[in-house]
Amino acid sequence: MKKILTVSASNSKHSINRTLLELASSKIEGHEVALLDIRDYQMPFFSLDREESEGHPETAKQVRALFAEYDAFIISSPEHNGSIPAEFKNLIDWVSRLGDLQNPMFATKKPVLLLSASPGPNGGATNVQTLTKLMPWWGADVKGSFSLGSFYDHFVDGKLNTEKEQELTNTVTAFINTL
Ligand SMILES: Cc1cc2nc3c(=O)[nH]c(=O)nc-3n(C[C@H](O)[C@H](O)[C@H](O)COP(=O)(O)O)c2cc1C
Repeated sequence: MKKILTVSASNSKHSINRTLLELASSKIEGHEVALLDIRDYQMPFFSLDREESEGHPETAKQVRALFAEYDAFIISSPEHNGSIPAEFKNLIDWVSRLGDLQNPMFATKKPVLLLSASPGPNGGATNVQTLTKLMPWWGADVKGSFSLGSFYDHFVDGKLNTEKEQELTNTVTAFINTL
């Protein structure tokens, strides 16, 4: 049994990325699964001056300790202007200051599945491509990804349609089979 941390990288109360993440989590059996919602780990914006005057936020230390406890990760992130949402990037920046800069998130190479959702047709895929390139540098072993575009066309009355449900199931199953 592996310990899997699911990470919701949106700071929206009604996040569609968290919805997608919860759907993905519901497909996992036989492993321990927990959720880290970045709204629960808010930090001031990183600056070298703030770091020098105030030190590192306790929340950054908690996040780093939590990452260390888990074997694998499923991260669902929105895309803001084609890139990583500022609050998620800020969390990474603070966590990276606590340890080995070559491994800002993970002390050892850990398997990661990337998800994204957006109301627009691209589904945040541009940011997922960026994360796929960046995350090995953060210590991750990116095993796969799934971007759900036109979210509200596919998610109706609290349910994904059959086609997208199957795609998500296949993605999660393939990821779990790598663990
Ligand atoms: C500042 C800003 C920039 C955005 N840029 C993009 C974008 O580049 N690509 C995209 O697909 N959606 C973009 N969106 C729309 C988000 O995908 C949308 O807000 C989505 O609901 C975010 O997911 P969440 O509900 O999990 O926060 C942007 C939204 C905001 C607020």
